[in-house]
Amino acid sequence: MDEAVRVLAGGEPVAVPTETVYGLAADATNGDALARIFEAKNRPRFNPLIAHISSMAMAENVGVFDLLSRQLAEKFWPGPLTLVVPVRENNLHPLCLAGLSTVGLRMPQGFARELIERFGRPLAAPSANPSGALSPTTAKVAYDGLRGRIPLVVDGGPGTVGVESTILKVEEGAIRLLRPGGLSVEEIEAATGVSVQRAAPNAAIEAPGMMLSHYAPNAAMRLDATEARANETLLGFAGTPGAALDLSPGGNLREAARNLFSFLKRLDEEGASTIAVAPIPMAGLGEAINDRLARAAAPRS
Ligand code: TXA
Ligand code: MG
Repeated sequence: MDEAVRVLAGGEPVAVPTETVYGLAADATNGDALARIFEAKNRPRFNPLIAHISSMAMAENVGVFDLLSRQLAEKFWPGPLTLVVPVRENNLHPLCLAGLSTVGLRMPQGFARELIERFGRPLAAPSANPSGALSPTTAKVAYDGLRGRIPLVVDGGPGTVGVESTILKVEEGAIRLLRPGGLSVEEIEAATGVSVQRAAPNAAIEAPGMMLSHYAPNAAMRLDATEARANETLLGFAGTPGAALDLSPGGNLREAARNLFSFLKRLDEEGASTIAVAPIPMAGLGEAINDRLARAAAPRS
């Protein structure tokens, strides 16, 4: 913790554990520090960063909350939820926002939240992977992906959620889903009584980072597979026969989300040429899992 605070204060980024995936954190008010994030990840500058905060007071200092956004924050923070709200001028460095008039805010659990509290300012943190690669759910994967490019990785063990946060934007009393993630639509609807609106499949991308090809392993991918064809390695769910690994033998979607990125990584490291993935139900965290799988399988540029 002390070492992380020192590195951050020196204007450098640190890879830190969160309950979703490892983040590459830097002072969200320091342009040089933010530039180091974009360089280390080779991230396009048009892609804004989520600002992580440790308290509601810190959140209100950088963003403007309507009633429904506040209700969502109170219910689900700290946790795997990012809220996009109008930004207050001048409290974050513009590099964090990539030219938008909104900011994505998240209060993480555990070490990351304590670090922000100690540091006293919001920390911008994208996932701690080279742009386009799988998100790291362990310190080792973060280290392997960014070694030589950042001064410090904090090892806090694997995250309990395993996929990135759900991104929501409240507009005119409606809740819009910009990215499915570790908080399910069902939980959001149950807590608010408001139905969550998904983007039409051909709508303009609103989270600039949601380019189609993303989270790509080295192996090719085939989805909704019921069996492995020649030269394929099967990633199963709920007891798929012949699977090399099973995301959740008991069919638990939370367990599957937790295992998703690390199992893809493992099959990659074992030299799989094509990973065939069993069908995953669309309920609960299945929506986020299917979203990441579709991006991992998308044509790569
Ligand atoms: O769980 C998470 O959200 C992790 C951990 C580290 O907190 N972070 C993460 O960050 O996944 P990143 O940068 O990999 O993904 C953030 C996404 C990007 O697609 C970005 O375009 C979008 O959030 N985003 C950020 N600010 C936004 C805004 N103001 N409006 C719309 N989308 C935004
Ligand atoms: Mg990412």
